[in-house]
Amino acid sequence: MQCPSGPPEGHCAYRAVATTTPCLQLEHPGPPGGAIAPDGTPGPYHRCMAKTAKRHRCIDCGSTTARWAGRCPTCGEWNTLVEESALGPLVRAVDELDLSGLPVPLSSVDVSEAAAVPTGVEEFDRVLSGGLVPGSVTLLGGEPGIGKSTLLLQVLAARADAGHRVLLVSAEESAHQVRLRAERLGPIPPGLLILSATDVGQVINAVVESEPELVVIDSIQAVAVGPATPGERRATGVPGSIGQVRECADQLVGLAKARQVATVLVGHVTKDGSLAGPRALEHMVDTVLSFEGDRHHALRLLLAVKHRFGPTGELGLFEMGDQGLNRVDDPGRLLLGDRLTGVPGGVVLPALQGRRTLMVELQALVAPMGQAQPKRSVVGLDGGRLVMTLAVLARHAGLPMHAVDVFASVAGGIRVTEPAADLAVALAVASASTGVALPADLAAVGEVGLSGEVRQVTNLPRRLEEAARLGFGRVVVPASAPDGPPGVELIRTDTVGEAVGRFGCLDAHGG
Ligand code: TYD
Ligand code: MG
Repeated sequence: MQCPSGPPEGHCAYRAVATTTPCLQLEHPGPPGGAIAPDGTPGPYHRCMAKTAKRHRCIDCGSTTARWAGRCPTCGEWNTLVEESALGPLVRAVDELDLSGLPVPLSSVDVSEAAAVPTGVEEFDRVLSGGLVPGSVTLLGGEPGIGKSTLLLQVLAARADAGHRVLLVSAEESAHQVRLRAERLGPIPPGLLILSATDVGQVINAVVESEPELVVIDSIQAVAVGPATPGERRATGVPGSIGQVRECADQLVGLAKARQVATVLVGHVTKDGSLAGPRALEHMVDTVLSFEGDRHHALRLLLAVKHRFGPTGELGLFEMGDQGLNRVDDPGRLLLGDRLTGVPGGVVLPALQGRRTLMVELQALVAPMGQAQPKRSVVGLDGGRLVMTLAVLARHAGLPMHAVDVFASVAGGIRVTEPAADLAVALAVASASTGVALPADLAAVGEVGLSGEVRQVTNLPRRLEEAARLGFGRVVVPASAPDGPPGVELIRTDTVGEAVGRFGCLDAHGG
């Protein structure tokens, strides 16, 4: 068969991305830099019918055979051999390689394609070190209801507003629902296309046809690979199953690379990460973003967990309002705005989130035991570390912790699991236990060891600067801490007993 705009079939050393649709008229990246391929094909792009070796793969055992047969010769299962081009998991690494086989100086490799394109949503771009790279695949994970769809709709609208064509594949909500939401966020730009579909083949067709610059798949758990031919069984189980999620992501990653379209996959993750699907994709994508927060609070944190095009550690801060997500310039207002000072059980911690410091309030409540067993309950903290800190307080500060219920939380829906929170937790619990309030301008940071010693923490200077900026005049720190910024008195402590004793929080009953 003759390629519509190129040399005859068989010239192409680059294989097409697999789709479940019969038409594979995709543009394949030629050799980098527009070089001539070994077979003489000019680069950098050409359009052709892909020449695929017609191997067949067993969807049960994964073995391959040159010819189709009714029964897999390896595992003996009937009707499980599928032509690889229809199945999808082609060896994409081969597609992306320069098959000329000749080494080139690394410094001569073209990196122009790796330049990030700003989306226009500032906090989003900041986390991505500038924006989305064409052809890159980003996984945005977060709990259901946290605002993933809202954030990405804003990103799409911003890009479309700048005159680009973008596509939202909504596999969970109808086009009608999405339009209502989009209207809430502002005027809808004409370049924002929507496809309400769950079949990956349909999605691939839509991308090939409409040639958007950015595609969002909402969500990867709701799309599935449909039967390649009538009567053939589904490749890898029901939508949302690990097999389906991987298979769909594999095809969409291949499509993104082949068409150089920036792609964002939405993945739902529950608090304990029990929905393993999206986690299993982390190695397949270029960037993994985590959208965090508590849906009952307005503050949302966007963090890059993995990023192939820049450093991780930037933190994006958003506030969920009536008209979508807005950037937050002053998180202190949201996190410390309603703080009650002069009451026992509260202290402020300069917590590190990514590379940014957030001043968060830790609160503790100590109450007489309500049941036969003492209760320990945390919100936004590491429960295991709380139990350890209580044991250290009992052993090294003499506070009676065995017959009380202890509750500890971080206000504002922030999660703080770093060991640097130990000292602040210990002070809050000691204050709650003894009923002695800590000073309003006091912050504390330090890791507590099992011998009661207070240890150094990472990035202390940055934490102290933020404490100073928000007017905290005193900070309890490990004894080895470097000098702080002007205006901040450092209270250096060797042990947790010394720290609680300093503020009169040793056991009122003789500790
Ligand atoms: P959504 O983006 O649907 O979350 P996800 O895709 O992560 O499941 O957002 C869910 C919540 O956000 C929903 O409870 C409603 C709320 N919301 C607002 O508060 N303001 C708004 O402008 C929008 C669009 C949503
Ligand atoms: Mg959603």
